[in-house]
Amino acid sequence: MQNAGIAELGLDWRYTAAEVRPEQLREAIAGAQAMHYIGINLTVPHKLLALDMVDVLDESASEWGAVNTILFEGQDDNGDWRALRDFETAPHQLRSHGFNTDADGITQSLREDLGMEVRGENVLLLGAGGAGRVAALKLAATGVRQLHIVNRTASKAEAIAHEIRTRFPAVEIAVGYPDGTDTEMDLVLNCTSLGLAAGDALPLDIGAFSLNKTRAVYDMIYQPAETPLLAAARAAGCQTANGLGMLLHQGAKSLEIWSGQTVPLDVMRAALKEAVHGR
Ligand SMILES: NC(=O)c1ccc[n+]([C@@H]2O[C@H](COP(=O)([O-])OP(=O)(O)OC[C@H]3O[C@@H](n4cnc5c(N)ncnc54)[C@H](OP(=O)(O)O)[C@@H]3O)[C@@H](O)[C@H]2O)c1
Repeated sequence: MQNAGIAELGLDWRYTAAEVRPEQLREAIAGAQAMHYIGINLTVPHKLLALDMVDVLDESASEWGAVNTILFEGQDDNGDWRALRDFETAPHQLRSHGFNTDADGITQSLREDLGMEVRGENVLLLGAGGAGRVAALKLAATGVRQLHIVNRTASKAEAIAHEIRTRFPAVEIAVGYPDGTDTEMDLVLNCTSLGLAAGDALPLDIGAFSLNKTRAVYDMIYQPAETPLLAAARAAGCQTANGLGMLLHQGAKSLEIWSGQTVPLDVMRAALKEAVHGR
C-alpha cells in the first residue's frame, strides 16, 4: 500500500518493515533519525511506549495517547523545523515528531464503508485494548450519543468510561450490554482480537444482545475478510464492513504527513486489497 502510493507520487523512497524489541525502541527511533529516514510507522506494542520517546508530540498523538507515525524533521538556517524531505543536504539538528493517524482512520472508514457519521448514533463497542480505547475516545469526540463498552476485563472498559466521562461529559457512557430487550444500537464495533484465529468464539454474547437490534456491524479485523461476527451480522440483515478501510486511511494519512502531498487513495486501496486478499 505505501510503496504503491510512494511510486504514484513519483518519490524515490522505500517503505520497509523491521522487527524491533520494545526495550530497543528508543535506539531504533534514534537510529532511523540518524540515518535521515523520512519517517516511520509503529505498531503494537510500540504505540504507547513511543509517547515518551519522541521529541515533539502532535495534538493527534497527545489527544489519543498513542503514536503510530513519526516524521523526522531538521532545523533550517532560520531555526525553523521542517520535514527532512525539504532538505538537500543533511541538517545538523534533527528531531522526531509523533502523530496518531489511527483515530481518523476509524471515523473515515465508518463514513466511507457504512455511510455512518457517528454523531448522534448509539454504539456498542466490544474490546478495551489499544484499538478499543482509541476508537471509544474518537467516537466520543465525534459526538456519539450512547456508547456501551463491553470487555472481557471489565476494569479496562471502566477506565475508558471514566476517561470519557471526564473528557466528553455529553456522551451517555455505560460499561456492559444495553439493558432491556428492545434497546436498539446503530452500530456494533468489534475492537477485540476475537475472530483473527479460526475457531475463535464470537466477541458478542448474543444471549445478551441480538444482532437483529443493530443496523450495522464493523469488525476491525480484516483478515479473514469475513469474520464469524460479520457472517452472523450479514445473515441477520445488518450492513457490514471489515477493518481494511481503517488500515487504508491510517496509512494514507501517514503518507500525507511524510510527503506533504495529497495521496493517491485509489492506488493505495487497490494495492492493499491485492496484498491482503489477493484481489
Ligand atoms: N483495521 C486496522 O487498521 C486495525 C488497527 C488496530 C487494531 N486492529 C485489530 O483490532 C484488534 C485489537 O487490537 P488491539 O491493538 O486493541 O489489541 P490489544 O490491545 O491486545 O486488545 C485486545 C482486545 O481483545 C480482547 N480479547 C483478546 N482475546 C480475547 C478472548 N479470548 N476473549 C475475549 N476478549 C479477548 C482483549 O480483552 P482483555 O482486555 O480482556 O484482554 C482486548 O479488549 C486486533 O484484532 C487488531 O488486529 C485493526
